[in-house]
Amino acid sequence: MVKGLVDGKVVVITGAGSGVGRAACLLFAEHGAKIVAADISSEAVEVTAAEVEKAGGEAIAVLCDVVSAESVESLVKAAVAKFGRLDVMYNNAGITTRPGLSFMESSDEDMDKLAAVNIKGVIHGCQSAIRQFDAQGDGGAIVSTASVAGLIGFGGVLYGSSKGAITTLTRTLALEFASKGIRVNAVCPAAMPTNFGGAALKNSELGQKHTAALHPLGRIITPEECAAAALFLASDLASNITGVNLPVDGGMSAGKSLSASR
Ligand SMILES: NC(=O)c1ccc[n+]([C@@H]2O[C@H](COP(=O)([O-])OP(=O)(O)OC[C@H]3O[C@@H](n4cnc5c(N)ncnc54)[C@H](O)[C@@H]3O)[C@@H](O)[C@H]2O)c1
Repeated sequence: MVKGLVDGKVVVITGAGSGVGRAACLLFAEHGAKIVAADISSEAVEVTAAEVEKAGGEAIAVLCDVVSAESVESLVKAAVAKFGRLDVMYNNAGITTRPGLSFMESSDEDMDKLAAVNIKGVIHGCQSAIRQFDAQGDGGAIVSTASVAGLIGFGGVLYGSSKGAITTLTRTLALEFASKGIRVNAVCPAAMPTNFGGAALKNSELGQKHTAALHPLGRIITPEECAAAALFLASDLASNITGVNLPVDGGMSAGKSLSASR
């Protein structure tokens, strides 16, 4: 396997205390990145940073609530204070709605909570990163975790709408900052067995079997596979790729096959 894809790069990863964020911290560090792991759970993010260091990598843990612009600005400042610059911002933190919440029962409070983390949180990450990239003057890379639900109709309406906002932001922001050498891309995973949404998928064998069958490749996505796609987009291998929402979905968003092979 190729190593060192992000050698020496300073990478901020939000939602680093669990699931995709944790997997990304470990994978990016394995590829030589200096990791700034951020999460709203200080305990969880400390564990992730310790895991990176134990594996021979370099990491700091930062408590950050992406809902707050000040908190995200402090996060980028912490990265620069520790490692001298910022190369990659990975906006990965995200939440879903209460389990079983129907569209018609959704309250303003439900919508505000979701939008604050999934939309505003990503915008804060982009703004703080671009401010720092501008100060450095040599470009940079932004990756966000959207979802297959931001590409096709899949799962909850509110959640899909929040992720659709990220896929649109990815395209438009990429165009706005291309001339500065700032690349903006997103990964769009299908359902993964993480702590997301009360870990419903993680804790249900039947749910995993049912979900696996929805994917043309026949199995559910792992957080490591999502992190690998983010690593590619963050790395110089993707140096001429911007404005892309990359599905990591076992072919789900490709459409429906007429063949009866599965
Ligand atoms: N798991 C899935 O089925 C799935 C599918 C598609 C997309 N996603 C997306 O993947 C991303 C990662 O989710 P995951 O599956 O690893 O979930 P997870 O719940 O395992 O991890 C999410 C992490 O984000 C942190 N977080 C939540 N709110 C935060 C905030 N305001 N500020 C900072 N950190 C915060 C949590 O503490 C947690 O550590 C999310 O954006 C999610 O929407 C997940």
